[in-house]
Amino acid sequence: MRVLITAGPTRERIDAVRFLSNRSTGKMGYALAEAAHSMGHEVTLVSGPVALAAPEGVKLIRVESAREMAEAVLAAAPEMDLIVMAAAVADYRPVTVFPGKLKKQPGNLMIELERTEDILASLGARKRPGQILAGFAAETEELLANASGKLAKKNLDWIAANDVSRSDIGFGSPDNAVTLLAKDGRRFEFGPAPKRQIAEAILNAILGEVNSSL
Ligand code: CTP
Repeated sequence: MRVLITAGPTRERIDAVRFLSNRSTGKMGYALAEAAHSMGHEVTLVSGPVALAAPEGVKLIRVESAREMAEAVLAAAPEMDLIVMAAAVADYRPVTVFPGKLKKQPGNLMIELERTEDILASLGARKRPGQILAGFAAETEELLANASGKLAKKNLDWIAANDVSRSDIGFGSPDNAVTLLAKDGRRFEFGPAPKRQIAEAILNAILGEVNSSL
């Protein structure tokens, strides 16, 4: 199968030397890409800026901003059988990017932010028959209610709900624990376990089902 995975944070530029970003390190997305490759699939990985080595045998597309990630993902999507959005895409970007380095002034500084495109929702809106779409939900409260809301709203087949308020799992940690929700209401609990194992469990759940329906 042709599999597209996204990973890492995005950076939204404020000026020539500053940006807005988040704590994502890309480990979960890279683990998914490596697991999918070792299961024999043709994998494309669209990655925000991370400190991880390029996974072997995987087509790696490096991007920086939410806009660049949207362009790369939406261009590749029509060919893909499975898309997993594990990236922590910024929801907002500065309305204007200052060309040089902003000099400090007396008093407070206001930076106006505008919404970025919701890539996963765009993918859901143009999903072709047979294409499988999965997302992650990073939550600090109402984990399952919020995750199943995103599953329905973005027209997904699967969502992996991640409790990012726990310091032993999630952002930056080598381990993760997720509740994987299917659109028909089934629920699987994976972990805490190393992210590679979580990645395999997620892909087995999603692709096992495809194989058994062939
Ligand atoms: N996502 C995306 N594009 C965005 C924001 C998020 O494709 N601009 C994707 C993420 O990759 C993830 C899913 O949407 O798979 C959910 O991301 P999350 O940050 O949990 O939720 P949001 O949709 O941003 O909603 P909220 O900020 O209300 O929690």
